[in-house]
Amino acid sequence: MQPALASDRVVAIAGAGAMGSGIAQVAAAAGHRVQLFDANASAVAQAIAGVQAAFEQLAAKGKLDAAAAHAAQARLLPATTVNDLAGSGLVIEAIVEDLAAKQQLFRDLEARVSPDCLLASNTSSLSITAIAAGLKSPARLAGLHFFNPAPRMPLVEVISGLITDPEVTGTLHSTMLAWGKTPVMARSTPGFIVNRIARPYYGEALRLLLEGASDSATLDAIFREAGGFRLGPFELMDLIGLDVNLAVSKSVWSAFSNDPRYAPSLIQEELVAAGFLGRKSGRGFYTYGEGAPVPQANSLPTQALPASPLVFADAPLASALSKRLQARGLPFQHADTSPDGRVAEAGGAALYLTDGRSATERAARKGVANTLIVDLALDYDSATRLAIAAAQQCSPAALAAGVGLLQAAGFAVSRLADVPGLAVMRTVCMLANEGAEAVYQQVCDVPAVDQAMRLGTNYPRGPLAWADQIGLKQVRRVLGNLARSYGEDRYRISPLLAHKVFSRTRFHA
Ligand SMILES: NC(=O)c1ccc[n+]([C@@H]2O[C@H](COP(=O)([O-])OP(=O)(O)OC[C@H]3O[C@@H](n4cnc5c(N)ncnc54)[C@H](O)[C@@H]3O)[C@@H](O)[C@H]2O)c1
Repeated sequence: MQPALASDRVVAIAGAGAMGSGIAQVAAAAGHRVQLFDANASAVAQAIAGVQAAFEQLAAKGKLDAAAAHAAQARLLPATTVNDLAGSGLVIEAIVEDLAAKQQLFRDLEARVSPDCLLASNTSSLSITAIAAGLKSPARLAGLHFFNPAPRMPLVEVISGLITDPEVTGTLHSTMLAWGKTPVMARSTPGFIVNRIARPYYGEALRLLLEGASDSATLDAIFREAGGFRLGPFELMDLIGLDVNLAVSKSVWSAFSNDPRYAPSLIQEELVAAGFLGRKSGRGFYTYGEGAPVPQANSLPTQALPASPLVFADAPLASALSKRLQARGLPFQHADTSPDGRVAEAGGAALYLTDGRSATERAARKGVANTLIVDLALDYDSATRLAIAAAQQCSPAALAAGVGLLQAAGFAVSRLADVPGLAVMRTVCMLANEGAEAVYQQVCDVPAVDQAMRLGTNYPRGPLAWADQIGLKQVRRVLGNLARSYGEDRYRISPLLAHKVFSRTRFHA
């Protein structure tokens, strides 16, 4: 392992905005003297004042002792020109997201700093190879992608461009560990790891809305309460800013030659065109401000528990149903083998876990009119809500019975229109497929995918570990059925996922 940058080396931060000031705080807390430089001198003063206040707050809350906070404050130094940065051992650039501006800054820096000074860019979307291209020694530049807010978010993507020296990324990796961060290594490709693999979380949700599966409040509740995500996709887009989120989608889409996997959504384009940018503009998918209505998820009205429900075998949904009914002292029967993969029967309804086909298609193919499809949950034992869809052929009485069974087991039930793959299953399969594709295309390794998505986006489980848990055969089946249902290349299966299924291996041993 390469040694970390010595703590007596000065770290220079170019661009003292939201990210630059956060990174400065992290570097100063780790013991480095930190020089802050910005084209706008008042940004430097503001950033230093902000970081000093942050250290004071940490001391006031007892998270840092007062002497350490003082010492860290004293390590923050303003710089007025690029010349002032000549003695630094590492420069982290966090200026405006503009290729020409970044190239120019690094050319200016290279002419001044010593040959052993490491150069790093915090770019979210530009190619590290392209940023380095204008340098005399492009091998010395790497990406160091922090997440916002940098002091709180543990993940840092360490990005190598086409000819970045592995010693440079190795030193940056060790340095991030020394700074208390969790670094993951990735190759410079559009969106790196997190901004690429996260695309389906927004993309599938927007398609569900476009197809009238349900409304945003209900879908958000499903992702939180069944999927275990901290924020649903619509509230998250409102928080990020619809314009910012759309710009990332468009940049990844365009960098991948308009691959339909990343195609931006008409709904999002419309909202941005209308100026509905999310929280910051007072309106996005939801409205904000005083008197704004609190979003309400739709749950089906309570139905009676039908007589003698039957729960089959011990797949996760079935075993949770058994446990939850048992815990409530409710009567049900248990059978070891399911005739056709159904999870339960109640009042004439057959309940199945979604396999990517619509309930209507499944009902027609199996000749089971009263088909109900249930969505994926992160953990059926603790989930509080489940999404379902009913076949068009399903009778109202059978639907009520199936819903009654799930409600009796303690789930709030949200009915979606009969869309293939429902909400959580289809999204998680697409996240896993994207993770597999990133690994297949040598962007990063399997542990990096899961670590990056858990720490960079707070997903409750890494997508590849989640796919292992669902069963890779099932994930492939869902994606295959989505591809067939829509006839779109968007749902094509990553060769790596297919390979894992054929070789009966998993992503994690
Ligand atoms: N905001 C985020 O969530 C986030 C997350 C990860 C990475 N990033 C990336 O970090 C970088 C900075 O983003 P931000 O949100 O901190 O932006 P920001 O607008 O808050 O700050 C940018 C700062 O750079 C200064 N600046 C602009 N051009 C300059 C130049 N040529 N030389 C010196 N200073 C210059 C500006 O005066 C400003 O103070 C961008 O590349 C962005 O893509 C942002």
